[in-house]
Amino acid sequence: MSVTTVLDVQRYKAEGRRFAMLTAYDATTAALLDEAGIPILLVGDSLGMVVLGYSTTVPVTLDDMVHHAAAVARGSRTALLVGDLPFGAYQESPEQALASAARLLKEGGMHAVKLEGGAHMAGTVRRLVESGIPVMAHIGLTPQSVHTMGGFKVQGRTPQAAGDLFDSARLLEAAGAFAIVLEGIPDDLAARITRALAIPTIGIGAGSDCDGQVLVVNDLLGLSTGGRQPRFVKRYAELGEQVMAAARAFAAEVESGAFPDAQHSYGASKPTEELRYGG
Ligand code: KIV
Repeated sequence: MSVTTVLDVQRYKAEGRRFAMLTAYDATTAALLDEAGIPILLVGDSLGMVVLGYSTTVPVTLDDMVHHAAAVARGSRTALLVGDLPFGAYQESPEQALASAARLLKEGGMHAVKLEGGAHMAGTVRRLVESGIPVMAHIGLTPQSVHTMGGFKVQGRTPQAAGDLFDSARLLEAAGAFAIVLEGIPDDLAARITRALAIPTIGIGAGSDCDGQVLVVNDLLGLSTGGRQPRFVKRYAELGEQVMAAARAFAAEVESGAFPDAQHSYGASKPTEELRYGG
């Protein structure tokens, strides 16, 4: 089985083939998504909100990203692996971005990086691409700028803002980005950008006309607890319910003495087995 590359992703666009991207933060999930045939795994800085318990992505560090990227790389065999550059690890200068991106590739095993920002990031994208690092751009609702946007709000609703996003998308493509995430923008604007670009757009809360779609895997699996979910989230499973039911059943059996029974215990007469977790 061959590994998906940035060239494959660009070919999908040329062939009009839609594709999926999902986030992953650990080796087990990466292995399952890989096995399911998901072509692109994003180690998103949503890590901060869905795994590390922060209320925004702002506190996520480059060390956090490298740690989880390396776990995903150990679990994945065929997906194109994209790692997010976290807040503060690339905005200072193209040199800072290059050093951070190099860590995601060298220590984290990523094949490409993603960074948030419009026209002002074009120079940084160019620098990374010229250094041999494929870049996925990300415009619209850019969660690292949550405090500037005054919350997680749909972007590009005025003609001026829509025009700026359209121009940014063109500039980022010209700078060498191989794909671009469009997050939280009106459907018609996403459609217009998708038609105008030769590189694929990957939407999240950007309607059905994007070339690809991405979801946070915890949302897709119904693992998120509490809180109101954005309307673009579709839950394809309710694993949160199953986790709680399994935990309650385990606790009840422990309390009643039903677990462990003979089948789950070691008798003196049984042959020696190797013990390991997660088998
Ligand atoms: O961090 C992330 O998971 C993302 C996707 C939602 C696009 O940036």
